[in-house]
Amino acid sequence: MSGGGPSNKDTLFAAQGLGKRYHGVDAVADVGFEIERGSIVALIGPNGSGKSTTVDCLTGFQRADAGRWWLGGRELTGLSASRHARAGLTRTFQNVRAFDEMSLLENLCLGAQQRDAGSWWQAFTGGPAERRAQAKMEARALELLEMVGLDHYAEAPAEILSYGQRKLVAIAASIMARPDLIMLDEPVAGVNPTMINRIEAMIRALNADGVTLLIVEHNMEFIMRIADRVLVLASGRLIADGTPDEVRRNPEVLDAYLGRSRAPHAV
Ligand SMILES: Nc1ncnc2c1ncn2[C@@H]1O[C@H](COP(=O)(O)OP(=O)(O)OP(=O)(O)O)[C@@H](O)[C@H]1O
Ligand SMILES: [Mg+2]
Repeated sequence: MSGGGPSNKDTLFAAQGLGKRYHGVDAVADVGFEIERGSIVALIGPNGSGKSTTVDCLTGFQRADAGRWWLGGRELTGLSASRHARAGLTRTFQNVRAFDEMSLLENLCLGAQQRDAGSWWQAFTGGPAERRAQAKMEARALELLEMVGLDHYAEAPAEILSYGQRKLVAIAASIMARPDLIMLDEPVAGVNPTMINRIEAMIRALNADGVTLLIVEHNMEFIMRIADRVLVLASGRLIADGTPDEVRRNPEVLDAYLGRSRAPHAV
């Protein structure tokens, strides 16, 4: 690969020199990292440190001002969100998005379109092949709803869901497209402990199934349990990259979170 890219064959995703400015201010500056295939990597940092902006740029939902990135050796720099999804990279949003009047099944089928654009709509107008494709998609949607324990609501409108249930449905929708890498923006924020356990189980099941994950989260207990590796952003810059234990003991990380000089016994 010319001019950069993944450093070895275990690397699924690589980003280099990512930059994004809003109103002349750096939201993200010179951020680079790699994600090993099959791993769960956390991206943490104080409010406003650039975590969502990083995910937005690397999934094609925002235009980056600088940087390049690759999935499975293929460069995705500058492509649209749907092209990222078709290449195998999907995401969920910090503020859960669901189409309230549509059923859970329909919401998930829209998720599938991320990777297989058009087929769902063609199913309404097309012939037997399209109808078979739609039946297959619905079967997968039902399977995923079963996985998150919401199959009994398959035909119900999304508006009846609780906040935690919406998070589960959003994750399910992001897997419809069978991605290789999913970036989850705060999957357990504002969710009660029981629902956190369900979301955690789902993430572990996905990972066991071969899906690689980048998880943005403020819930440290959750991150420390689930992540193989932790990346830390502060003021748009990557300040640490290590195991959960290394990062927990990193004085720079404590400074970034506490916003003060280190006390002698702070570590
Ligand atoms: N669409 C936008 N327009 C203008 N400024 C933005 C936009 N999105 C983000 N920013 C700014 O970029 C910076 C980083 O924001 P970002 O949402 O990436 O932070 P974050 O780490 O996800 O924070 P949080 O933990 O609160 O979700 C902030 O200063 C924010 O105000
Ligand atoms: Mg955010």
